[in-house]
Amino acid sequence: MEYAVEIRNLTKDYEIGFWRKKRVRALDDLSLNVRSGQIFGFLGGNGAGKTTTIKTLMRLQFPTAGSASILGEDISNVKMHGRVGYCPENPYFYDYLTAREVMDYFGQLFGYDRPTREQKTKELLAKVGLNEKDWKKQLRKYSKGMLQRVGLAQSLINDPEIVFLDEPMSGLDPVGRRQIRELIAGLRANGVTVFMSTHILSDIEALCDEVAILRGGKLTAAGDLNELLAASEGAGSFEISVDGVSAEAIREDIEFIAGAQITAKPQGAGIMVLDEADIEAVLAVTRRAGGRLTSIEPVKQSLEDLFVRDIDPADPGIK
Ligand SMILES: Nc1ncnc2c1ncn2[C@@H]1O[C@H](COP(=O)(O)OP(=O)(O)O)[C@@H](O)[C@H]1O
Ligand SMILES: [Mg+2]
Repeated sequence: MEYAVEIRNLTKDYEIGFWRKKRVRALDDLSLNVRSGQIFGFLGGNGAGKTTTIKTLMRLQFPTAGSASILGEDISNVKMHGRVGYCPENPYFYDYLTAREVMDYFGQLFGYDRPTREQKTKELLAKVGLNEKDWKKQLRKYSKGMLQRVGLAQSLINDPEIVFLDEPMSGLDPVGRRQIRELIAGLRANGVTVFMSTHILSDIEALCDEVAILRGGKLTAAGDLNELLAASEGAGSFEISVDGVSAEAIREDIEFIAGAQITAKPQGAGIMVLDEADIEAVLAVTRRAGGRLTSIEPVKQSLEDLFVRDIDPADPGIK
């Protein structure tokens, strides 16, 4: 099966207000394919529609229009959901239960016998980095990061073929983030498809194969992360920094090189060229003028550039 998730023209309106009902379009005609076996990053600012998409896929709410399938089955197929894991954005659970009890409860929902439930509970709570001394504490005494870990452990109890993680890094400190990153990478290594939403770009850059960027309920970009970055504006250029020569002294010669741009810097100048082949010509010009090379760096588009560029400042889609 090539695609683990297929989303076709999915639209979701919420009705708000009591006396005068108003419809708010949270998701607008979203179509998306997610290949099996990868970590897929679902990006967008607050209010972009990430949680709405995931809840609709999990069948916790109904779409206004459109359809979707997971593991080749329509999302209305109840049996298919038994092969899927889900960690909600705020995994609250029942406050007075302990982590062990929550795990046992979900294990029962999937019909596991007691020894299997106990073994899975131990294995998973350890795997998500929850200290054994906390396993018997009530969840109301847990920090946000600890709850997030229980949420993740719970989402894996049925050995899912695909997991949907809604902002799995939220509430975690840097050490916790690293642990969870490793856990997510480990899932992929074991053939599990991961669909994760996040607004934390460094996590996406560290983990994801393909991404989709959502803004105001609409898809603004989707595809292989490296290809998206390579195709972005500015990719392929180089920035050359030189010392011991003023920008004015060489400006004319530099601007003779097609597409080259020069800016003055405190001790010298910075020169941008669009093509690697132009680096030699720039170096020749600066050497003739007595300048000294200090660095040559490829201009890298970061995911942040891509993410921000796709956000219209007049309508950021972020609240
Ligand atoms: N239950 C709801 N009722 C009304 N509006 C909602 C509801 N849930 C979400 N929304 C609205 O839908 C939009 C998308 O929200 P959401 O899917 O939670 O975004 P994200 O997860 O990307 O932050 C927002 O404008 C939000 O206010
Ligand atoms: Mg959300």
